[in-house]
Amino acid sequence: MPNYDLTSEQEMLRNSIREFAEREIKPVRLEIDRNEEFSYDLTGKMFDLGLFGVTCPAEYGGHGMDYLSYILIVEELARVDACQAATVAAQNSLGIAPIQYFGSKQQKEKYLPMLCTGKKLWGFGLTEPGAGSDAGNSKTNATLKDDQWVINGSKIFITNAANDWTAGVTVQAVTGESDGRKEISCILVDAGVKGFTSRAMKNKMTWRSSNTAELYFDDVTVPGDNLLGKRGDGFKQMMQTLDRGRLSIAAMGLGGAQGAFEEALKYAKERKAFGKPISSFQANAFKLADCAVEIEAARGLVYKACWLCDQGRPFGKESAMAKLFASEVFHRVANHCVQLHGGYGLMEEYPAAKFYRDQKLLEIGEGTSEIQRLVIARHLECF
Ligand code: CAA
Repeated sequence: MPNYDLTSEQEMLRNSIREFAEREIKPVRLEIDRNEEFSYDLTGKMFDLGLFGVTCPAEYGGHGMDYLSYILIVEELARVDACQAATVAAQNSLGIAPIQYFGSKQQKEKYLPMLCTGKKLWGFGLTEPGAGSDAGNSKTNATLKDDQWVINGSKIFITNAANDWTAGVTVQAVTGESDGRKEISCILVDAGVKGFTSRAMKNKMTWRSSNTAELYFDDVTVPGDNLLGKRGDGFKQMMQTLDRGRLSIAAMGLGGAQGAFEEALKYAKERKAFGKPISSFQANAFKLADCAVEIEAARGLVYKACWLCDQGRPFGKESAMAKLFASEVFHRVANHCVQLHGGYGLMEEYPAAKFYRDQKLLEIGEGTSEIQRLVIARHLECF
């Protein structure tokens, strides 16, 4: 029989993150969102709490936990604020993971301790202005000269990559051609290297207190040893990273849906119309019932995908399914949440509006819903 219980450690972890998010994040989430402020205070507290390097081995400064435990952390943060969840998810899944899984011993020793505990952040340089869904279409290039990589190009929409704590970025670059195909490799670039500049992207509709960057590489020169893994393996490294990363986006969908649902239920029980709480009208009660069912289904899918990952079994299809489903459940729940709030749902003083805006990113970031369907359809050998 499957066991649906979390371990007592996982329950304790969930409770402690919930308590932290309620105490520290909830009181400021709307204000920092309004001000588009990346919060060093909250990020520092999340470092102190051990929320970075969650699955990374202890010998590199990490906490050596299983993947489901990490996903519980992201879910609980997203229940209160997508932006703090994004800082944690991007650092663990996209900043730390490529170095953890593909880095040399020297690279791990150099970078991982500071990224796990040293209040330093690392970006995942995949997306470019002309290469989003078609992630293999990178124009950024790197040439090896005198055992040094010379990098030229640009990246866009890179989380955690333009703030005072950014220590660098993993850059996907075209490093040549072999057998008539582009050779793609990943290279580690430290912040502060000559020719590497970054700019925080402002005026976002969504994830406003998460740090999103545009990056420019103008003859950026780094040692040949900064190559991650083998030359030519870059695209596969990025894709494997996204297989895991999509689980954390799924967790954000799940946590966000849970948070929006709780706000909707609370409001619907308090708000009266025609002399009764609006939750007692069948049209509204059924909406809330549908939300509860969908969230439960999403939780099952997300946790099962994590369980497969923790078992060392293939999980790429399930991770795409979990990301697709949980982000679309969040879409429907956030929509109901605003609708149940009526006019107040349109006001930024209420969290409903923020849930509604923050949800949208999840159907686009780390692979659009269309790309998730493509990945699933390929697993089904539809074409
Ligand atoms: N694991 C390992 N290898 C993989 C793989 C995976 N998941 N997916 C593909 N590959 C390998 C293939 O096996 C193939 O290898 P061979 O050359 O040896 O045969 C190679 O990679 C090329 O694969 P495809 O032909 O399938 O590649 P494609 O060009 O058709 O693209 C795609 C596939 C699924 C559409 C991919 O481009 C993709 O995932 N696009 C979406 C990109 C994305 O998610 N971007 C998000 C960026 S991060 C972000 O958004 C962060 C944020 O801010 C929230």
